Parts: sequence; structure tokens; C-alpha cells
Amino acid sequence: MEMKWSTVLQLVLIQCWCVLSSGSRPPAIKPFHFSDVVSEGRRTAVICVVTDGDVPFEFKWFKDGKSLKSEEGHFAIQLIDEFTSILTIKKLDSDSNGNYTCRVTNSAGSDEKSDVLVMRGKMIKTKNITYLDVPYCNC
Ligand SMILES: *[C@@H]1O[C@H](CO)[C@@H](O)[C@H](O)[C@H]1NC(C)=O
Ligand SMILES: *[C@@H]1O[C@H](CO)[C@@H](O)[C@H](O)[C@H]1NC(C)=O
Repeated sequence: MEMKWSTVLQLVLIQCWCVLSSGSRPPAIKPFHFSDVVSEGRRTAVICVVTDGDVPFEFKWFKDGKSLKSEEGHFAIQLIDEFTSILTIKKLDSDSNGNYTCRVTNSAGSDEKSDVLVMRGKMIKTKNITYLDVPYCNC
């Protein structure tokens, strides 16, 4: 009988791939949310927890699609254990507002979750306080 070697090889490869990939599950991240009470000058943190999937994981944080690094003074990124990473925003100011994303990758795939930080009291920063200078009292 005629059995093509390429076909046999293909079947073997597919089987190997199935066995290998079924041994590893992609990560699933628990959604995180910034607290509603963040205000200027304070600090805040969010935690990225992988609730499913197989180690090892690679964690990455982004703000508005741009990669975040610990060294930038504003942020601290800390790996707590192989499933958990914490992003701390050390000093909140109007530049801190944005869409923050945690992306976790392993050999089987990746997952990401995002939350938007909107600081209350941002309006206070606008400098138009001329109305306060109006003299009501003409003593
Ligand atoms: C935040 O960023 C993520 C990832 O880029 C995106 O999927 C999501 O829609 C964004 N959310 C908002 C509110 O812009
Ligand atoms: C500041 O307030 C004045 C008076 O109400 C207004 O005419 C002006 O447009 C304001 N300026 C800004 C930058 O909001």
C-alpha cells in the first residue's frame, strides 16, 4: 500500500502538538479596578492576579498602550509571587489619568485586563480663580 511519508509526519506532528499544548493552559486574569476615592497627591495601587493557567507567566503593565517600567519614579511594579503583580502609582497627578492594562503571557497564550483611572478633583487644578478676587466688601 502507498502511504505518503509526509502525511505520516504531519499526523505525528499534530499529535505531538496536541499533547504538548494540552499540558499548558493559558492565563486568566482577575479584573482589577482603581478605587473611586483617588485624589491628587495620594498614591494608589492595583493588583493583577492570575487565577487560572500554568506557570511560568510573564507580566507586563501598560498605560494607554505604552509599556510601564518601575524606574520611572512615578510607578512601582512588584512581582509578589509567580501569580501576582502589583502596580503602584506613587504620586497621583493629572498625568496619572489613563487606561491601565495588565497583560500576562505564558506558553499557551495571554490575557489582559484594563481599568481607566479618572481622578476626582481634577477640576480644582484649573487656575481660573479670578472670581475669588472680586472684592465684595467695600469697607
Ligand atoms: C483600555 O485598553 C484596552 C487595551 O488596549 C482596551 O481593550 C480597552 O478598550 C481600553 N478601555 C478604554 C475605556 O479605552
Ligand atoms: C476664566 O474666567 C473668566 C471669567 O469668568 C472667563 O472669561 C475666562 O474665559 C476663564 N478662563 C479660562 C481659561 O477658563
